[in-house]
Amino acid sequence: MGLFKNYVSQTRKPEGFLGKMMVNGMNGGHAKLADWGMSHLKTIAPQEIVELGCGGGRNASALMEKYPSSKVTAIDYSDVSVRIAADVNAEAIREGRCTVQQGDVSALTLPEGKYDLATAFETIYFWPGLEKCFGQVAKVLKPGGVFLIVNESDGTDKTGLKFENIIEGMKCHTVEEIESALKQAGFSKVKSDHHKSKPWITVLAKK
Ligand SMILES: C[S@@+](CC[C@H](N)C(=O)[O-])C[C@H]1O[C@@H](n2cnc3c(N)ncnc32)[C@H](O)[C@@H]1O
Repeated sequence: MGLFKNYVSQTRKPEGFLGKMMVNGMNGGHAKLADWGMSHLKTIAPQEIVELGCGGGRNASALMEKYPSSKVTAIDYSDVSVRIAADVNAEAIREGRCTVQQGDVSALTLPEGKYDLATAFETIYFWPGLEKCFGQVAKVLKPGGVFLIVNESDGTDKTGLKFENIIEGMKCHTVEEIESALKQAGFSKVKSDHHKSKPWITVLAKK
């Protein structure tokens, strides 16, 4: 595998030295996108949040800042991501506000019906079967709980499709595909937004 392909493939499941570099880079590189996505959360005051595919944990930290009385559980199946996310949120972990756990979104072992908000930034591209994984998210949300998805690819942009061709197992979904899978998984009130000048999308769904 060429170095470029090897490096960008670290977005799927960061491993080893290149994975560490990628996770640290994503914490800064995805911040604007994540903040734009979070700005769509307007009327809720979540106490229990689950941050899925948390990568380096920057967004777990931003969620705790946005919701000062909340607790965040950050989940990722990569041990590199889990280690960096735990490091980035070390103080919040000591204070009992944050937990970082290794786990796979296709088989969540979190308590059912616990969370007010679930978030997924730049990660559903890699989830093995949207409907199945969204069903797992629905399982851990409270009735009325909200699921926020944020992607920098709208499933039609050139860059997204270029990476889809390079990175094995990556799929850039369109809003329509995401909305349909959410409804199949039992979510209601699905709402989406497209950035005015970039291919960024958010999809919000209510359980
Ligand atoms: C492109 S990174 C995004 C990280 C972070 N959310 C961000 O916005 O910077 C994708 C992350 O999703 C994680 N991931 C992918 N599939 C997953 C799965 N099935 N279960 C848990 N984590 C997963 C990867 O390990 C990786 O850390």
